[in-house]
Amino acid sequence: MNPEDVKKVGVVGCGIMGSGIVEVCAKASMDVTFVEVDEERAERGRQAIERSLAKAVERGKLDEPARDEALGRITGSTSLEDLADSDLIIEAVTEDLESKLEVFRRLDELTRPEVLLATNTSSMPIVDLAAVTKRPDKVLGMHFFNPPPVMKLLELVRCLTTSEESVAFARAVAERLGKTPILAKDRAGFIVNMLLVPYLNSAIQMLDEGFATKEDIDTGVTLGLGHPMGPLTLADLIGLDTMLHVSNVLYDEFKDPIYSPPTLLKRMVSGGFRGRKSGKGFYEYSK
Ligand code: 3HC
Repeated sequence: MNPEDVKKVGVVGCGIMGSGIVEVCAKASMDVTFVEVDEERAERGRQAIERSLAKAVERGKLDEPARDEALGRITGSTSLEDLADSDLIIEAVTEDLESKLEVFRRLDELTRPEVLLATNTSSMPIVDLAAVTKRPDKVLGMHFFNPPPVMKLLELVRCLTTSEESVAFARAVAERLGKTPILAKDRAGFIVNMLLVPYLNSAIQMLDEGFATKEDIDTGVTLGLGHPMGPLTLADLIGLDTMLHVSNVLYDEFKDPIYSPPTLLKRMVSGGFRGRKSGKGFYEYSK
């Protein structure tokens, strides 16, 4: 199959990242079926896509007919069997290895053997997922950035078993999706999170030490470095539970204290402060 023949994409998981990935594929004129664990989550995913598309129309990024066309391309399901005729799979379920392994085992049985199985994981070893399939050469990472409809980057991750052809295929798909691909090896953090995590953790540490206020830390970075968001606002956007998870994974992999999660981050997650998605993190958010 050629990358231009990808007509149907299956997306597993329709949370923050999955819903954004569904939207990106639908706007690139691909039919997308997403799978969630139950009807309620599928409905929530669909509403998130509708809200994001409405925002794109509001911002003049999309006209109404294009929005309707994109919505018409999207189907929600609660059954992985509905992905059997997909030309490409992108998995974006919770960052839990056992769940991902199970999804990859099932997808390997369900889909045509030539279909690429990609994962949006930001922390799992891709080779572990490849190893439970009979097509380890066709498994790779396609790591999108939050929010996927806006961020132009797509980090491709080649594991020990991924073939050159699969990487070339994924590059071509990235371009069809309007993303710029970069290529990383299969180790924790890939390129971007390896740089991002120590930076965000330092900002959290700075706040915890009372060195500066959260507003001043964020303003320092937006106005002094020209970033669109300060580090504490960005940590809230990513999700503090996700931040903690990615920090732990990096620390486990390299045992370098620069990746070790700050105490404040651990305590906030234990206390239910998960960032924007929970309504409270370093800042408060109305629903
Ligand atoms: N659809 C299409 N375009 C949209 C949109 C949508 N739903 N929402 C916003 N946009 C566009 C706007 O039109 C605007 O485009 P322009 O620059 O051409 O005018 C641009 O996005 C920015 O919009 P705004 O300035 O109005 O700000 P918002 O508050 O809407 O969005 C943001 C802010 C895009 C999130 C911006 O602050 C940003 O880029 N922040 C940094 C995000 C970031 O760093 N993400 C990476 C996180 S790390 C990660 O994901 C890895 C993981 O593994 C941890």
